[in-house]
Amino acid sequence: MTHLRIVICGVDGYIGFALAQYLLNRGHEIFGIDCFHRRAFVKEMGLESMIPIAPWDNRLRELKAMGSSQFESIDIAEHYDRLRKVFEDFEPEGIINLAQQPSPAYSMIDAEHANFTMRNNIQGLLNIAWAMRDYAPESHVVTLGTMGEYGFPHMNIPEGFFEVEFEGMKDILPFPRQTQSVYHCSKVQATDLAWFFCRVWELRATDIHQGVVYGTRTEDMRDEPLLRTRFDVGECFGTYINRCVASAVIGHPIIPYGTGMQNRGYIALTDSIACLTLAVENHPTDEDSHHGYRCINQFDECYTCNSLADVVVKVANERFDLNATVKHIENPRIEPEIHYYNPHHRKLYQMGWRPTRTLEEELVVMFEDLLPHKEKMQKYKHKIVPKIRWRPRTKKRGKKHG
Ligand SMILES: NC(=O)c1ccc[n+]([C@@H]2O[C@H](COP(=O)([O-])OP(=O)(O)OC[C@H]3O[C@@H](n4cnc5c(N)ncnc54)[C@H](O)[C@@H]3O)[C@@H](O)[C@H]2O)c1
Repeated sequence: MTHLRIVICGVDGYIGFALAQYLLNRGHEIFGIDCFHRRAFVKEMGLESMIPIAPWDNRLRELKAMGSSQFESIDIAEHYDRLRKVFEDFEPEGIINLAQQPSPAYSMIDAEHANFTMRNNIQGLLNIAWAMRDYAPESHVVTLGTMGEYGFPHMNIPEGFFEVEFEGMKDILPFPRQTQSVYHCSKVQATDLAWFFCRVWELRATDIHQGVVYGTRTEDMRDEPLLRTRFDVGECFGTYINRCVASAVIGHPIIPYGTGMQNRGYIALTDSIACLTLAVENHPTDEDSHHGYRCINQFDECYTCNSLADVVVKVANERFDLNATVKHIENPRIEPEIHYYNPHHRKLYQMGWRPTRTLEEELVVMFEDLLPHKEKMQKYKHKIVPKIRWRPRTKKRGKKHG
C-alpha cells in the first residue's frame, strides 16, 4: 500500500480522532486541523463528553508517538490564508473533511445557529476547494454528507445519481435531495459544491452520504484513556443508538420520537473509519465517478428506532442485568415517521469493505465502556428529553396576516 500525505479537517471530533489513529497505524502521514468548535458546542449545551477526553495537546502527543503527525488550529471556514498555507507546504495527496457542524437539532435552535451552520459547513468546504485548485489539484477530497440528504422518497435511493427519462429523452442526473433540517440543507449545498468543483475545476471528490454512526471505541484506542474518542448524549450531539445505550445505563427510559417507525441506515464507528480510509486510499476513477465526483452511501444496516430500542433493551437486560425500558415521546422534529426506505449501499462492498462486528457485539462493548461512567452520566439525566422543536409557522398558509 502506498503511504499518503493526508489532511484531516476536524481531527479532534468523534470520528476524526479515531480516524487519525487508524490512518497513522496504516503508515500514512497526517496533518490534522481543528478549531475545537465541537468542544465549545457541547459546553454551550451544558454538557460534556461522557467518556472523558484529553486536552488536545495530550492527544497530539499520543498521535505523534504513533506516526508522522502535524497539527494546526485553524477555523477552515474563516481563515482561508492559513488553510492555503498548509496545502502549499504539506502538499496533501488526500484530504478528509469532517469539519462541519454535525447536528440537525443545533441548526434548528434559532436564526443565529442556523446561519452559523450554513456558513461554517459551506465556507469550510469552499475554502478547501480553492486550496486544492491552486495548491493540490492532483489530490482528492473525501467530504462528509449524510444519508439524510435524500429524504424519504417513495422509491429506492441510488448512490448519488440515477437514470431519468423525461419526454422521451434520458440522462444520468443527481438524485433529488429533500431535507428536514437546516443542517441537512447545508449538506445538500456541500454536495452541490463538490459536484461543481469536480465538473468545472476538474478536481476529484468522494462525497460520503453517511448513516448514523455509533460506538465508543476502535481497536487502535486499546485501553489507553488518552486515545479515547468523545461520547455525547444530549439532544444535539448524541446520535440515536448512543443515546439509547446511555439511557439504559442511567435508568432513563429509551425515548423513540413519535411512533418510532423512522427507518435509517447505521454504521459502527470502527466500520465508518475503515470506509473513509478505503475512500481516501482509492481516488475516484473515470469508471466509478462522474467527472471525478463519486458519491457513496456509507452505512451497514437499516433499522427503525423501535427495532433498535428493542435490541438495546435485550442486551442491557440480558447481558448487564439492567432494567431498560422504552417510552415513546412526542416527536420534536417535523419528519415522516412511517415511510418507505430502501437505499443502495453497493459501492463500498464493490471496493472490498465488509462490516467487522454485529450490532449486538458493538452494543456489548458500548455498555462495558459506559457503565464505569454511570455516576457522572446520572448528572446529565435531565438532558435526555429533547427541548428544541422544529416548529412550523403558527399561522396557516392562505390566511391573511395583520
Ligand atoms: N456522527 C455521525 O453519526 C455522522 C453521521 C453522518 C454524517 N456525519 C458527518 O461526519 C462529520 C464528522 O462527524 P462527527 O460526528 O465526528 O462530528 P464532530 O463534531 O465530532 O467532528 C467535527 C470536528 O470538526 C471540527 N470543526 C467544525 N467546524 C470547523 C471549522 N470551521 N474549522 C475547523 N474545525 C472545525 C469540530 O471542532 C470537530 O472536532 C460531520 O461532517 C458530520 O456531519 C456524522
